Amino acid sequence: AKLLVLHGPNLNLLGTREPEVYGRTTLDEIDADLQARALEKGFELASFQSNAEHALVDRVQAARDDGTDFILINPAGFTHTSVALRDALAAVAIPFIEVHLSNPHAREPFRRQSYFSDLAVGVVCGFGSLGYGLALIAATRYLQDAAR
Ligand code: DQA
Repeated sequence: AKLLVLHGPNLNLLGTREPEVYGRTTLDEIDADLQARALEKGFELASFQSNAEHALVDRVQAARDDGTDFILINPAGFTHTSVALRDALAAVAIPFIEVHLSNPHAREPFRRQSYFSDLAVGVVCGFGSLGYGLALIAATRYLQDAAR
């Protein structure tokens, strides 16, 4: 199976960005860890980060044609703003898990609204970089169940 990991705006700064909120793990470390875990399970995994909404929309659209079976996405700030990115995920109809390092429900009220959660297979939040590994386990289970 083929997995795609999408990282939204400012996640390129992980490691130095508000470490008390987002931790000290860098995006490269997160991607390398996911890559290793995916390989172990015999999955192919691609990662993509962008600060631009259109680039993320384009990458989701491309996922329909490149055989992507499942998406892990941290939409970051776009979680709370992007109808366009939501619509792209709905359009390609590829199952996805929404991931957040922090727990948006324990923060400012504007972070409680997500344009993604009601379309997601599930949401993992509040566990820092561990959340990506948890989401990968859940994605694996989902794909195994779908294949049966
Ligand atoms: C985030 C939470 C969002 O509210 C915020 O805008 C981010 C990161 C997280 O991973 O905790 O950029 O998605």
